[in-house]
Amino acid sequence: MSLEMDKNGNQYNIGILTKMLDPVINECNENGNHAEVKNLFLELIKYAECVPEFWEYLDENGFFTDPASARHHAPWPGGLMCHSIRVLWHGLKLIPVMLDISRLDIKDFVKACLFHDLVKMGSYKPEKKNVRDPITGKWNTEDKYTYVGRAAVQHGAESYRRMSKFFILSTPWDMAVIWHSGAYECLKEDHNLLLRTIKEYPEVLLLHTADMIAGIVEGI
Ligand SMILES: [Fe+2]
Ligand SMILES: [Fe+2]
Repeated sequence: MSLEMDKNGNQYNIGILTKMLDPVINECNENGNHAEVKNLFLELIKYAECVPEFWEYLDENGFFTDPASARHHAPWPGGLMCHSIRVLWHGLKLIPVMLDISRLDIKDFVKACLFHDLVKMGSYKPEKKNVRDPITGKWNTEDKYTYVGRAAVQHGAESYRRMSKFFILSTPWDMAVIWHSGAYECLKEDHNLLLRTIKEYPEVLLLHTADMIAGIVEGI
């Protein structure tokens, strides 16, 4: 590729990120090697130039061991970390079809994908629950999570509020984090506002789509 075709180096950067993610992406599931996934996460945080205090904040508050949900997707230890990396992986593939690559801030893209669900950190409590086996009808005790999160603001806005103590994203990516649930967590009166925001910032639709593919299609 000529320099003329890749003025801001983003084709090159996408290649670097793909090389980092490809060998580990299949570990991002319930039975995967989560130590390897956590190492990749550290490499990605360094790549995105986050301050060391942010890594400590994540580690101390359970980001790498929390689930991504209580039931719907990745409801197991390490689920939040695995979900976040899968969103980044799908996001990388969507960039060429959804964004103008010459205007992309690749480091903000990485941070927005990895931390769009920062709101979930510390929001799930592990508990023993009695669950009835649908086939045998017997009751078994299983490890499950209960949602205990109490954010004062909307889901995406709380993620952004938390990350903004450590870094600020450019406008397209702060919009993407704040609106990443799309119409799912949006009052009907705000649908036009969401549509206007997506038209102005396609990054919102990219993050929402990558999130849906990981969470709904793959269940991670
Ligand atoms: Fe979310
Ligand atoms: Fe998500």
